[in-house]
Amino acid sequence: MNLVERAGLALLHRMDPERAHALSLLALQTGLAPLPGPVSSPRLATTLAGLPLLNPVGLAAGYDKNATAIAPLSRAGFGFVEVGAATPLPQPGNPKPRLFRLTEDRAAINRFGFNNDGMTAIGLRLSQRKRGPVPVGLNLGANKTSDNRAADFTRVLAHCGPHVDFATVNVSSPNTERLRDLQGPAALTALLAGVMDARSSLATAIPVFLKIAPDLTDDDLAQIVEVSLASGIAGIIATNTTLNRDGLKSQHKAEAGGLSGAPLFERSTRVLARLSQLTDGKLPLIGVGGISTAEQAYAKITAGASAVQLYTAMVYQGLSVAAHIARGLDQLLARDGHATVAAAIGTRRTAWL
Ligand code: FNR
Repeated sequence: MNLVERAGLALLHRMDPERAHALSLLALQTGLAPLPGPVSSPRLATTLAGLPLLNPVGLAAGYDKNATAIAPLSRAGFGFVEVGAATPLPQPGNPKPRLFRLTEDRAAINRFGFNNDGMTAIGLRLSQRKRGPVPVGLNLGANKTSDNRAADFTRVLAHCGPHVDFATVNVSSPNTERLRDLQGPAALTALLAGVMDARSSLATAIPVFLKIAPDLTDDDLAQIVEVSLASGIAGIIATNTTLNRDGLKSQHKAEAGGLSGAPLFERSTRVLARLSQLTDGKLPLIGVGGISTAEQAYAKITAGASAVQLYTAMVYQGLSVAAHIARGLDQLLARDGHATVAAAIGTRRTAWL
């Protein structure tokens, strides 16, 4: 982090977190934030479900919910960028305040509840973007008041799918009541069948990932893997935010919502390692939850991830964290004699089981 970024972050942390988030997006859109450009090396360049990546460090969903900063985010050092969640209809989300910084815990709690501009506005922005070397994906969500949530995912995919490189079925947000019930085997089978149908109607059949919660039992995970393998989806993103609140110190620890950041690292990495064991190389996995250093990104890869994503680390370290982690990962791969990211995947999985 340089001095300008440190000063900018100090300023943002004196504001209400949601305002600070909006301002950070504005800084990106207006070119105020310094951007390193794409980060890559022969070791870092990899593929994820057929997508070529300059590096395996991606931006997780929820930061650029409305796809308003794709171009600058693609120059921030990330190897891939996920925007959204987008729902069919625009919706305001939950009442404010709904985002809390847990500074002592290097964490955040959010209960946004899929506030977004809706698929028409977001689809238009996606269709107008200049495609570059950084794949852009869309996180699919369901409207709070929808009477057929499964159909919502299909509608957003059908509408926006032509303009993105991948999509994610997000049935793991804790902030839309009963959404996570869609992770159960019967509901998930039907949901993924509909989504894969919509995908096959697209001119280009993009990879579709499933994003799951960290608060699942081993039995739940086994069922999810079985359904996922049968459905033809391209991979699993593990994980979304947690409802668990163990060991927190910050004053906002009891706020309702999903917890992200440092306290999520272990829990989400254990889920990832279990998925890696269950899928046994048949499905690529994306590791997300609590990554704030290159060592932690590397730990997710050696636990079984083909690529990683992060969000909350940006709150505490600024945007330069993406390039910093990608470069550090390159050094860790070299240190351990791995010529590629792929060579390191799952090499230390057993440590997490
Ligand atoms: C999120 N996350 C999220 N995930 C998702 O699939 N769809 C979404 O719309 C959102 N929205 C969202 C908003 C905010 C404010 C946060 C902090 C997070 C979850 C996010 O993508 C990621 O899975 C978790 O935050 C864990 O990663 P980090 O933040 O610990 O790196």
